[in-house]
Amino acid sequence: MLKNSVHPSTKLRTNGGWTEIIGEFPFVLRALEARVAFFSTLLATDRAKSPEKIDELNARSSALTGHGESLLSNGRLIERAMASATNTAPSGGRKLKLGIVGIGVGASEILPAMEATANIQMVAGADVNPRVRDTFRKRYNAQTYDSVEKLCDDREVEAVWISTPNKFHAPHTIIAANRGKHVVVEKPMAISLSEAEGMIEAADKNKIKLICGHTQSFGPHIRTMRRIIRSGELGRLCAVNVFAYTDWMLRPRTAEELDVSQGGGVPYRQGPHQIDTLRLLGGGMVRSVRGTTGQWFRGRPIPGYYAAFMEFADGTPATLVHNGYGYFLASELVPWGTNRSRYTYEERAAIRKQLLDGTRNENEDKDAMRIGGAQEGQLFRNRGERRPWVPNDLGILIASCERGDIRQSQHGLYVHGDDGVKDVPIVEGSTSRRAELEELYNAVVLDRPIRHTGPWGMATLEVCLAIMQSAKKRKEIMLSHQVPAPEED
Ligand SMILES: NC(=O)c1ccc[n+]([C@@H]2O[C@H](COP(=O)([O-])OP(=O)(O)OC[C@H]3O[C@@H](n4cnc5c(N)ncnc54)[C@H](O)[C@@H]3O)[C@@H](O)[C@H]2O)c1
Repeated sequence: MLKNSVHPSTKLRTNGGWTEIIGEFPFVLRALEARVAFFSTLLATDRAKSPEKIDELNARSSALTGHGESLLSNGRLIERAMASATNTAPSGGRKLKLGIVGIGVGASEILPAMEATANIQMVAGADVNPRVRDTFRKRYNAQTYDSVEKLCDDREVEAVWISTPNKFHAPHTIIAANRGKHVVVEKPMAISLSEAEGMIEAADKNKIKLICGHTQSFGPHIRTMRRIIRSGELGRLCAVNVFAYTDWMLRPRTAEELDVSQGGGVPYRQGPHQIDTLRLLGGGMVRSVRGTTGQWFRGRPIPGYYAAFMEFADGTPATLVHNGYGYFLASELVPWGTNRSRYTYEERAAIRKQLLDGTRNENEDKDAMRIGGAQEGQLFRNRGERRPWVPNDLGILIASCERGDIRQSQHGLYVHGDDGVKDVPIVEGSTSRRAELEELYNAVVLDRPIRHTGPWGMATLEVCLAIMQSAKKRKEIMLSHQVPAPEED
């Protein structure tokens, strides 16, 4: 049963349009199933088509599904939605056997989604840290190894999730590919374009699937936004803007995270979330980038800020900003976001002081966030089934079309159009992490196309690098490795 909250502005749209687009998503399947049963006997009748009757149906179907927005405007939509859902939902029955390399904070974030995905089985983990290996082995009754090579020699492992530090993404991917393992690699895909090229070559040569994760562009909000844009219902996409204000710089960091040459800093680490998302919405082909980076806190030797202007090949502009210094948090801009910060204002001030006087034990703080650490539960495991969205590492994203703007709401999207604002809920079930696992499963087991391919990840990395290059040269950078966004949603 869905647990969606209901926004008062939610109304049924009776003549098709963008609500239909939502209905085509696989993750609305459960809501639709309930509604199909309920509506099917009623939609055929003339009475059901009257506005009063539709209001009544909406109220009753919302009660049935817990879902505030009607996803249905006519019978045709049901068929389309169900057909689409059948085509894209992961199925196929058998379990995909997965190994994780680098059981750190990033891995701890994805583990609950892996546990919740019935057709994924974690069979092995590798890390140089014996404490995390031990916890992983006991929790999942899995094999553990102290190197990527040993894990990739395990014949049971079919696919490898690589969440080691950024400088290892390329070598570890190539090791896995050469041993015939499919790969999901964390963002950023690599530190340089030549590394990314090597990864793509290794994947092609060994005929393995390479998915460049693990960004927020996988999320249902983004995919739904894309659907609305692509439908043309609001006219042409004219601009996309995203800005994030986070505490990224105050979270505990390892030595490699504090070194730009090893892929440290906000542009490398946070850029991919925003760039991937903007590219997905804007069609993928970025023509040029003008960017700047900022580093203004003495306690951290890496950039904690970037701002950039990207222009797509068709002239559509996009802007992106991330400030990770943690004074103002963008989550404060939404009424429901104030109590969702990792640290209080006072804690953030104390951390800054500790970083300046060298008294913070970063290794201990970071290890507390990894699997089995004191913070793991609170941060990644006991978060409730369906938390409202807040502007987190992706930030606040606004897509502007000729006849309206789209942005995220608590559980869906606000669509600001000529008729006012509508809150279109996104049905539960496909967080960005689950969606990424689905993409992996579908690619490996069902041989379905990958959306976040190697060339796609490389194009996102090119933008990321161009922001840093532009900041140094104070010039616009022209791009040459861009690829179009996939047709499939
Ligand atoms: N997508 C996201 O939301 C997200 C969130 C956090 C981290 N990440 C990504 O995860 C990666 C790791 O970052 P993190 O914050 O988890 O850091 P981390 O230090 O907590 O995790 C890295 C893990 O890799 C292990 N490791 C280091 N060298 C290794 C080697 N040679 N072989 C095997 N294991 C090795 C470390 O012991 C550690 O447990 C980064 O690429 C980061 O961008 C992504």
